[in-house]
Formats: sequence, structure tokens, C-alpha cells
Amino acid sequence: MAAQISTGTSEIRDITKMERIGAHSHIRGLGLDDRLEPRASSQGMVGQGKARKAAGMIIRMVQQGRIAGRAILFAGPPSTGKTAIAMGMAQTLGSDVPFTSIAASEVFSLSMSKTEALTQAIRRSIGVRIKEETELIEGEVVEIQIDRSLTGATKTGKLTIKTTDMETVYDLGTKMIDALSKEKVLAGDVIAIDKTSGRVTKLGRSFARSRDYDAMGADTKFVQTPEGEVQRRKEVVHTVSLHEIDVINSRTQGFLALFAGDTGEIQPELRAQIDARVAEWREEAKAEIVPGVLFIDEVHMLDVECFSFLNRALESTLAPLVVMASNRGIARIRGTHTSAPHGLPADLLDRALIVSTRPYTADDIAEIVHIRCEEEDVRLSDDARDVLTSMAEQTTLRYALQLIACAQVLARQRRAEAVGVEDLRRAYGYFMDEKRSVQWLKEQQGNLMFEESLPDGAGAVVPEGDTMDST
Ligand SMILES: Nc1ncnc2c1ncn2[C@@H]1O[C@H](COP(=O)(O)OP(=O)(O)OP(=O)(O)O)[C@@H](O)[C@H]1O
Ligand SMILES: [Mg+2]
Repeated sequence: MAAQISTGTSEIRDITKMERIGAHSHIRGLGLDDRLEPRASSQGMVGQGKARKAAGMIIRMVQQGRIAGRAILFAGPPSTGKTAIAMGMAQTLGSDVPFTSIAASEVFSLSMSKTEALTQAIRRSIGVRIKEETELIEGEVVEIQIDRSLTGATKTGKLTIKTTDMETVYDLGTKMIDALSKEKVLAGDVIAIDKTSGRVTKLGRSFARSRDYDAMGADTKFVQTPEGEVQRRKEVVHTVSLHEIDVINSRTQGFLALFAGDTGEIQPELRAQIDARVAEWREEAKAEIVPGVLFIDEVHMLDVECFSFLNRALESTLAPLVVMASNRGIARIRGTHTSAPHGLPADLLDRALIVSTRPYTADDIAEIVHIRCEEEDVRLSDDARDVLTSMAEQTTLRYALQLIACAQVLARQRRAEAVGVEDLRRAYGYFMDEKRSVQWLKEQQGNLMFEESLPDGAGAVVPEGDTMDST
């Protein structure tokens, strides 16, 4: 079994690539300079300098492979940019280092156990960088000769290809002929053919043939005829995650499960085999482990069993860096009757480095509002921007950002180009923020179902402990 473990790289690439749109789509990085100092406003990031710098330091340690098996906790009041910073980290890491983002509540799925869900998330965050050698045919096309059978159903042919040193003739089958005609390969083109996959890449036209035609497209690229052998070996490197290897090799699922995301539980025996195999590859210097990042948002939603599982997982040899975010103050640990800081057990906190995020200043808020307007393609009049900024200070940043789109709908209705103060006022009237909603509930005095009395001066009803105080 172990001998057949496959990595199925080319398939995975296309499936797991996904675009992010939504609340954090304006974030394109952490906005740090080379010395990891935060720029005032860069890559969509504003303010929160200390936390951003800390995030940048973490990224640097991850890239140097020095911080696997540790935990970081971003703690702070709601809408102070914890999730935004994590998204910025994901973008800074680049595509070669795995970054997995889950919300803690995802772990409680019906189709698999909590520990299986966590294990999958952890293995998704560990990359295996695999080196493979492929055979490449590279040279200038001298001649392509195609013979069609009488019915046209089968084609055979010959491809003559040369380098500055030699010339070789290859026999072509139907598949290769199709591949060559799809790329519109002509005599005089410099091409590369991957021998294992049969993929044809056109590298450009040979300089020697540049005078053949007078009329050429502006994008025609001229290249030198390659030197040396026509056929050569080339090393390619790709990174897949342990989870992807698990799924591809699990007998019941196969790699199609990656499409559906419906991977089910994976047998521990299979994982053990894969780990052993990967260890072998490492010894043979065929593969390298790339510990990535697992981000668990709203981590206080995990329960005590998950926390102790995480503690153990952090200590295993194949562990990623675990980044967590929590907006809870002293709160009950789910699954117990005990309260603890951030809703996390003391032993997990002890393993974590804690980074705090703070409420934004008026200037920062104004800048974030500005960036979001550009992102959503909304024009705000100057006084509307001031009003929105002060709304954000009095309510929350997130509420204010959500009003932008609502106000734009209203502005369009009255056929105005830019969103004005009156649109914001009306949107503010239609949609309540949390504080006004609490006020409204108090005024209703028992007209709603299942009411308990609200704690004085409290925000929303948070049964498992308060959110962190924002003052
Ligand atoms: N420093 C920042 N620069 C730019 N945009 C930001 C910044 N901080 C937050 N935002 C934006 O403000 C909104 C709220 O921030 P975010 O969702 O990150 O808060 P949070 O700390 O995760 O809150 P919660 O605890 O409620 O999950 C998001 O749309 C986010 O992109
Ligand atoms: Mg968040």
C-alpha cells in the first residue's frame, strides 16, 4: 500500500485555488516595510501597528521554519482587526506555505468527530515540498509532417527538432499532434515538451527565422535556439499538504472528494503510512516538510476536549503554527463550569504568545472607511465621511462599514452620484446597531418571547461570558 502513495499534484492545484471576496477583500498584506515596521496605511491595512508588527515577526519565523508547534493568540474587542490581520498574514506568506483558516464552530460538524475535523485542519496546514525530475524535450522545430489516414480518424506524423548541437526526429501519435496544433506550433518555433504529461509549451520563435515573414504580431517573442541535448532532465518542485495526500490515497474517497470538500473521516492507519512514507522521502532528500499556519477564528467556541487535543497536537513532530483569535474577556470555557481569560484553558494559554488588538483612533477609522469605500466603489461626500467616522466611533467599526453599501442603495434611488449625509441618516434609521437594539428591547418590556432581564449597560446577550470591554 505504502508504495502506491501518490501526490496527485496537478489535479490539486486547480481545485483548491479560490478567490476571497467580502469583508476583508481590501486587505492585501500586512503593510510592513523590510524592517517589519508598520506603514501608516499600506496594502489596505491601517493602524494597529504593534499587532501588525508582531504578525510580521511571526511570518518571518514561519518562513525560516523556526516556529512550528507553537501557538499565537490575537485577543481584543470585536472589530479591532483580528481576523483582518490573519488574512493579511495569509497573503504575506505566499502560495508555497500552507495557510488554513477555520472558524472554531466548523469543528462541530455532523459528519465527523471534533478531533477528526481538527486533525484535518492541522494536516491541511503542513506542506510537503516534493522534488520530482521530469524529462523535457526542448528545441527549435525544423519540420512537422502529418499523415492522415483515409478516413481522417487517425493521424501519425514526425517531428524534427534541433538544438545548436544536434537534430532528432520523433514519431508523433494522435494526441501529440493535437497538442501541437492546439498550440499552433510551426517550423521555426522553439518549444518544450514535458515527456511525462505530454504538455507542449511554446517558448517563442527562433531568432534565426525572424526574417521569414514581414508581418508578425506585436507579441511575437524571439528566443535563441537552445544549446546542448534535445532531451534533458529537469527538476520541478511543488508543494502539497499532508491532508491532500491523505484524501487522494484514502480508498473510499479518492481525489474527487477534494472537489466536494466531503472527505469524511480518514483512517488513522492510512495517516500513519503516509507519515512514514513522507519521512522516507525526507531521508532520501526527495521531499521537505513546510510547516504552515492554522488560523482558528473565534477560538473560544472550541470546547475543553478540543483544547486538550490541540495541546497534544502542538507537541507532535508534524505540527503547524497555530494562530487563534478571541474577543472574549473572562469567559466560561465551553464544556466546563470554569471561567478563564479569553475563554481558553490556562494550559493552552501558557503555550501561547498573546498579541492584543486595541480599539482604533478616529483617524484610523476615517482611513479604513476611505479604503472600504474605494474597495466597494462607493463615493462619499466629505461631510458624509465625517459623519460615518463619528458613527463608527459611537457604534462599532463593522456597523459603520456595513452602512456604506446600504447608503449607496439609497443614494442610487435618488439618483445621486455620491453618498451624502442624508443617505447615511436614512440607512442609520433602517438598520439598528447593537446598542440601539438593546435599547429597543428594553422598551419592548417583555413583549418578546423567552426574555430574561438584560444585565445593566451590557451589549448583546452573550450566554457564555461577555465579550471584551471596548473601553
Ligand atoms: N487595521 C485595519 N485596516 C483595515 N481594515 C481593517 C483593520 N482592522 C479591521 N479592519 C476591517 O474592519 C472590519 C472588522 O474587523 P475584523 O473582522 O478583523 O474584526 P475582529 O477583530 O476579527 O472582530 P471579531 O472579534 O468580532 O471577530 C473588517 O471588515 C476588517 O477588514
Ligand atoms: Mg473576527
